[in-house]
Amino acid sequence: HFLMPLDMALSTKSLTKDPNRYAQAYTVFQSRVSEHQIIQDFFNEKLEDYINSFAKDKETIKILGVGSGTGEPDLNILKQIQALYPGVPIIYEVLEPNVEHISKFKAAVSSTPNLKNVTFVWHQLTNKEFEKQVREKKEGKKFDFIHMIQMMYYVGDVASTIQCFRHCLEKTGRLMIIIMSGSSGIAKLWQKYEHHLKLSDFNISTDQIMEVLEEQDISYQYFELESDVEITDCLKGNEHGNLLLDFLTLTCNFSESVSTALKAEILEYLHSSEYNTEREGKNFFDNKMGVIMVDP
Ligand SMILES: C[S@@+](CC[C@H](N)C(=O)[O-])C[C@H]1O[C@@H](n2cnc3c(N)ncnc32)[C@H](O)[C@@H]1O
Repeated sequence: HFLMPLDMALSTKSLTKDPNRYAQAYTVFQSRVSEHQIIQDFFNEKLEDYINSFAKDKETIKILGVGSGTGEPDLNILKQIQALYPGVPIIYEVLEPNVEHISKFKAAVSSTPNLKNVTFVWHQLTNKEFEKQVREKKEGKKFDFIHMIQMMYYVGDVASTIQCFRHCLEKTGRLMIIIMSGSSGIAKLWQKYEHHLKLSDFNISTDQIMEVLEEQDISYQYFELESDVEITDCLKGNEHGNLLLDFLTLTCNFSESVSTALKAEILEYLHSSEYNTEREGKNFFDNKMGVIMVDP
């Protein structure tokens, strides 16, 4: 009976059902994290050998970004490949359902110099739509590198997605997954409130990915990246805070659509659990990431 007041939620809707609000919430989230810089630092340290493993001796390098969003990590990966393999033609395909994200990515491409040897191919599709094409053999392309950065939450069936995209790799092709770590504050928040927030379809972290890989006997390397998100605005209840809360709980209009008791409890958790740190009067919540580099 303790769950009762929390369960008296008005009807909640997943943030993924509202692409426009998702894009707004994602913009606020990105302004409160250094996630892209942290990923970039990791790439600077570790990506060179990895790129060599799939790009060496290739006449054309074929890449697929899945859920690429507005493309920041993608353009950094491209830059690094171009530096190692200057002039080698690159076909860069992007699988991204959100129209607003695709148009921001395209704008970033237009303002990035030196992309002459890169051909972009845009697919405004979800993973499921693409997987269906692969299964119906309408899509028989093979890639040297496929990456899925912070998007595995939305794929539905992790095991069949991994299987399908591995099938789209060349023999020496590599798959890289970046996703929140199972030991991050956000993963713990989602575990704790999975039922209240109806997150069971999205509640995915490195734990589930590694479980699937181990079940299928696929070897991989794992790296953990420290990261946190500044959540000071969440307590203030202003517009940015509310959008950020939507993103962190994956719930559309979180503040208005859950019971007062649940909202209070989640805010309390964000601000006082072991995953919160305070620096210079600001509050941060742990969003540690994991990088999973799957072996060929
Ligand atoms: C958190 S963002 C990450 C974007 C980018 N990879 C990055 O790290 O900067 C997640 C992206 O996945 C996309 N997405 C959502 N559902 C998807 C699906 N079913 N298939 C492919 N992409 C999806 C979203 O539109 C969004 O652009």
